[in-house]
Amino acid sequence: MNFINIIEKKRDKGKLAKEEIRDFINRYVAGEIPDYQVSALLMAIYLNGCDDEETYELTMAMAESGDIMDLSEIPGIKVDKHSTGGVGDKVTLIVAPVAAACGIPTAKMSGRGLGFTGGTIDKLEAIPGFSTSLDEKDFIAQVKNTGYALIGQTKDLAPADKLLYALRDVTGTVGCIPLIASSIMSKKIAAGSDAIVLEVTHGTGAFMRDEEKACELARIMMDIGKRAGLNMKAVITDMNEPLGHAIGNSLEVIEAIEALKGTTASDVSEVMKVIIPEMIMAGGKADNKADAWKMAEEAISSGRALEAFRTMIAAQHGNPDVIDDYSLFPKAAVKKEVHAERNGYLRVKDCAGIGECVKLLGGGRITKEQAIDLSVGLEMSAKNGDKVSKGDCLLEIYARNDNEAETARMQYLKSVEIIDEEPEKNVLIYTLND
Ligand code: URA
Repeated sequence: MNFINIIEKKRDKGKLAKEEIRDFINRYVAGEIPDYQVSALLMAIYLNGCDDEETYELTMAMAESGDIMDLSEIPGIKVDKHSTGGVGDKVTLIVAPVAAACGIPTAKMSGRGLGFTGGTIDKLEAIPGFSTSLDEKDFIAQVKNTGYALIGQTKDLAPADKLLYALRDVTGTVGCIPLIASSIMSKKIAAGSDAIVLEVTHGTGAFMRDEEKACELARIMMDIGKRAGLNMKAVITDMNEPLGHAIGNSLEVIEAIEALKGTTASDVSEVMKVIIPEMIMAGGKADNKADAWKMAEEAISSGRALEAFRTMIAAQHGNPDVIDDYSLFPKAAVKKEVHAERNGYLRVKDCAGIGECVKLLGGGRITKEQAIDLSVGLEMSAKNGDKVSKGDCLLEIYARNDNEAETARMQYLKSVEIIDEEPEKNVLIYTLND
């Protein structure tokens, strides 16, 4: 097949056939098509889109470019959960052990943070000794024995996505719904679960700023999953302010542990109340939200969810004592507070801007390979819409040194304002009906 014909077809708004998509992915992974030609095709897709069928075929070709996990040895319905990312998003750390404690086998592969967004794998690495790379056999054995494992993506998982994502990153083609949907779903399908609960974020701290676009992305990902025979659910959440109080790797794990002990910020609790029941219902353990949430509450109040987290940490060579002693987490050298300069209501103008603070502190990545400092971060004492008085502490900054703390303080002050009128609260979360 002549690749130039494929580029020209998409350039002229044509529909690519399954065979053309397969040929493109297989030959690109084999190193037979140069990046400059694939860049041209990506740009044609960016400009002219793909219909649902093309997006599905692209996803499957990418998923099948590497290993497809076979989780059939693990009894029960395997449920995965995926978030399109955000700032302070520690939801996976909380919902996975709760689901596991409710009897849902949870074989979860997560990613690292990039830019202003955090990643679950970095967060877990804040636990001393914790290993996020298990081979496939050990991963499956751990889920079978303990009900729950959380690791980084293996190198054989959807290798086509790795190549294409790197190319999209440098060709201005990341923000394209069919490319995002196929990228995410190829990895999810290759990870082998039976059901997926998607959390699609929108707002100033999300990939999709626009709520309508977030719904469109969710719809397309659900369509792909259903065509692939998976049980799909999608939840749309607001990311116009960071989730919870903590942002930064160690601090977020501590906030997640507190949630498993029963203490949560109200926005985190709202997200838990929607996502956990969806996971429990998808896993066939309850048939309505009220019963599912009752199960989850019991798993938390009895301490079983926390024990599931402890068991997972120990199984993956981490020090489970962190659960009882937060001083075992990496500690930042400097703590600096930011205070309100006037009375009023706090308004978050730019959630990504707050995420940027953590990057400036050394806790987030600019390039994929970069090492990060797991100790640094922010504790937001005041959330969007909170009434504050002059002198109140709005934020605690945990930094490596005074200079970086000051840079983060300046960035924070650009991202928020204190206003006279109470800002409107965003609708945090809703389930997308199929
Ligand atoms: N996350 C992914 O895995 N891929 C994208 O394209 C965007 C977000």
